[in-house]
Amino acid sequence: MSAVLKPSPLQFRPMAEADLDAILEIESAAYEFPWTLAIFQDCLRVGYCCWLLERNCRVTGYGVMSVGAGESHILNLCICPELQGMGLGRSLLEYLLEVARAHKADVVFLEVRPSNEIAKRLYLGAGFDEVGMRRNYYPAAFGREDAIIMARSLS
Ligand SMILES: CC(C)(COP(=O)(O)OP(=O)(O)OC[C@H]1O[C@@H](n2cnc3c(N)ncnc32)[C@H](O)[C@@H]1OP(=O)(O)O)[C@@H](O)C(=O)NCCC(=O)NCCS
Repeated sequence: MSAVLKPSPLQFRPMAEADLDAILEIESAAYEFPWTLAIFQDCLRVGYCCWLLERNCRVTGYGVMSVGAGESHILNLCICPELQGMGLGRSLLEYLLEVARAHKADVVFLEVRPSNEIAKRLYLGAGFDEVGMRRNYYPAAFGREDAIIMARSLS
């Protein structure tokens, strides 16, 4: 009997300028205060680790991370709203942690809104701990919102 291996519907690949239309569509659907085109362009230009998650060849999510001097910082992690809650965010986060390890990072930082319960659970479940707070970090509907700083050791 011979087994036929099905190709995985999930693929990770580096983000390119040509992907930014699809990314901005997801970004504006997923966030109340989305990043602009210029922010994504800057991230690509300065050489941040910018990765796409594709499902059945369609852009489904993305992550942006800076790496340097043994530290890594996840700046954006997003899954398109209609495919959230299916394990894709966890897969993308695990992939970014592998990328950080490959760049010899010992620790990964990120910020998250206290109101973003889903993201907080994702990060706590992935081994991140709360290590600090940035006051009035994010824009919010009425004023500003603090950011929880989270960190995870990779060593
Ligand atoms: C946060 C985000 C990336 C999570 O991705 P996702 O694909 O929806 O999450 P997953 O299905 O992989 O779930 C991972 C964990 O998140 C938490 N989670 C997911 N959906 C949840 C829900 N509806 N309620 C509570 N917790 C939830 C759970 O802890 C889950 O782990 P579990 O399945 O073991 O319980 C995604 O919701 C998203 O893109 N949100 C908008 C952008 C954003 O807020 N990004 C984070 C900025 S800091």
